[in-house]
Amino acid sequence: MTKRTPLIAGNWKMNKGTTAEATVLITEVRDKAANVSGVEIAVCPPFTVLHALKSVLGDNSPIALGAQDVYWKSAGAYTGQVSAEMLSDAGVSFVLIGHSERRGRFGVAEPDFTEGVLKYFGETDASVNRKTVAALASDLKPIVCVGETLNERENGDTDGVIRAQVEGALDGIFTAQIAQIVFAYEPVWAIGTGKTCSSDEADRVCGIIRATVSDLYDAETGGAVRILYGGSMKPDNASELLVQPNIDGGLIGGASLKASDFVSIAVAAASLPS
Ligand code: 13P
Repeated sequence: MTKRTPLIAGNWKMNKGTTAEATVLITEVRDKAANVSGVEIAVCPPFTVLHALKSVLGDNSPIALGAQDVYWKSAGAYTGQVSAEMLSDAGVSFVLIGHSERRGRFGVAEPDFTEGVLKYFGETDASVNRKTVAALASDLKPIVCVGETLNERENGDTDGVIRAQVEGALDGIFTAQIAQIVFAYEPVWAIGTGKTCSSDEADRVCGIIRATVSDLYDAETGGAVRILYGGSMKPDNASELLVQPNIDGGLIGGASLKASDFVSIAVAAASLPS
């Protein structure tokens, strides 16, 4: 089987966004992870602290920076948006695309701001695809997030939703570009809830992502693509998830805000039997 380097990525979401608190956290992560090898580590802080963290980490740091979103146009009258070139210029190498907190499941003609409704930003498979294409064109590595809601799972639609999200994201993308893309399976019902998907089920769904990539391209490409699990991953459940054959790392929310927890998860990924 293709050897895939594990990736542990922290999604800080809208947390640790002042320069002072972000600097404290990244410095702790950098120092605690100094002797960890065999795993790639990335942190995705809010946009506004990317420059500051880049100067803390320096140019050749083993810790990569990621952004939490990107717009697909390179410049123009798009108030509030940030392009792939701008991220690249800020020293970013990864970018989260299509996180469930940004996807809109039912259209956004009438945005609904109710907590947990998930339709305030209105990301769709089509916008995820444009963002993925734009990120690749600027040499950023997209971390494309997919996942089903509780309702979709209870209706037996999980596999179809995941396949459709993967196919939608990859529309028009060439085989050679797939090696730059990472997928993250994040069941929406397991994000920030403390509910983890069982490791068997997480592996099964990650296997569907892999099979979809194999069907769209070829088995070698599907076998090489990295797939992360995200959703309440913590130091005490990380090993069980990370040891699964189709899971190549984690996208960590809450636990990435505490350096010792985040680095313990990276250590768990680095300690997997080869
Ligand atoms: P939690 O780890 O807090 O459940 O968040 C997962 C996530 O959404 C990462 O992108």
